[in-house]
Amino acid sequence: MKFEEKKFNIPKLKGISEKNIEEHLKLYAGYVKHSNLVQDKIVELMTDSEKNAYALGEVQRRFGFEYNGMRNHEVYFESLSVAPSELSKEGELYKSIVYLWGSFDAWLAQFKAIAMTRGIGWAMLYLDRKEHRLLNTWVDEQHLGQLQDCTLVLGLDMWEHSFVADYQPSGKKQYVEDFFENLNWQKVEENFNNAK
Ligand SMILES: [Fe+2]
Repeated sequence: MKFEEKKFNIPKLKGISEKNIEEHLKLYAGYVKHSNLVQDKIVELMTDSEKNAYALGEVQRRFGFEYNGMRNHEVYFESLSVAPSELSKEGELYKSIVYLWGSFDAWLAQFKAIAMTRGIGWAMLYLDRKEHRLLNTWVDEQHLGQLQDCTLVLGLDMWEHSFVADYQPSGKKQYVEDFFENLNWQKVEENFNNAK
């Protein structure tokens, strides 16, 4: 069984060029390819697991990076697809954010601050289904800091490949601002509703 590369309907975006999206989608395709490759390699190495113990361990260790890289990008590109839309104030996601953070702006300020974390990684909004509670967090690389049994609702790619070509390294903050201008909140709300 293979992981399949998804297609996204990404419109012209504010600030983020078509060329950058095109290049970024190639990186996403690489994560899908490598998620499959790791699984194939494990089968291959298991033909002599004792002899290949070291290689098996190293390949297995990479899986979390490749798999989460694939899934993070699917949430990211999906949230930029079709057309930007506002978060409905009548919806449960908006109400949950206000309940937990006091206001939507307080949540947004925290999420944007997380996005400015130094280093490569992701600003994430998850739904912890056990507590039915939203959580903001930072994930290093693709996988370090992912929250167990929580569903990703919104993911903002803060690897430099996602913005440097258009914004230069110093334009990181503007990229974050533009991400929210481009964001299709309906998709984010869908993620939230599907996760419940
Ligand atoms: Fe990326």
